[in-house]
Amino acid sequence: MKPDRQLAKYLANLGYGSRKEMEAAIRAGRVTGAGDDLHFDGEPLDPSPGMVLMMNKPAGFTCSRADQGRLVYELLPPRFLQRTPPLSTVGRLDADTTGLLLFTDDGKLLHGLISPKSSTGKTYEATLARPLEGHEAELFASGTLVLRGEEKPLLPARLEVTGDRTARLTITEGRYHQVRRMFAAAGNHVESLHRARFGALELGTLGQGSWRLLSEQEVSSFF
Ligand code: URA
Repeated sequence: MKPDRQLAKYLANLGYGSRKEMEAAIRAGRVTGAGDDLHFDGEPLDPSPGMVLMMNKPAGFTCSRADQGRLVYELLPPRFLQRTPPLSTVGRLDADTTGLLLFTDDGKLLHGLISPKSSTGKTYEATLARPLEGHEAELFASGTLVLRGEEKPLLPARLEVTGDRTARLTITEGRYHQVRRMFAAAGNHVESLHRARFGALELGTLGQGSWRLLSEQEVSSFF
């Protein structure tokens, strides 16, 4: 087992409590097991730094650590907010948007995924206020669409029409309110928005408001 002081620091960085509290917890026998198989109060320890998880975000929750109203972090164990390095969302979804939201404490991965140079596709299912007119797929694929207030055209995006007022849109960028603004530029209005896919990753059977850790294989699928 790690020497107690080193272990107390490690547990404090995982958010279980202060170093002092962790030294006391170790003395009280609350930490059991050895090596990579440690338990705290009988539960397996949270992952070491390098953790990546996905959530099926419900509507009405904000992707912020300190905002008014309900925050996506409330849906995670409270100690996750006490971790060092800190856990952040990979980009943001609007409060009203539901679906696949990633979190990580890995700064390199985070920046790789949100960098404008990243070509990771993000797929959104949109329900629109008005019927699609038929010109939208070409407009979004053109690579010439400029959003209001911007100068740089959007990279080509792929639209699949799935119904009269529903469509699936895959974008590789992550500009502010991008999907809502793209449909606004096409003369429509997004009534509801759900992210179904991030790269090769899909929500699967994960229920709204639930989360799970990603496997190493899933994380490597981003590269
Ligand atoms: N585009 C939007 O407009 N909103 C989101 O939440 C994500 C992408």
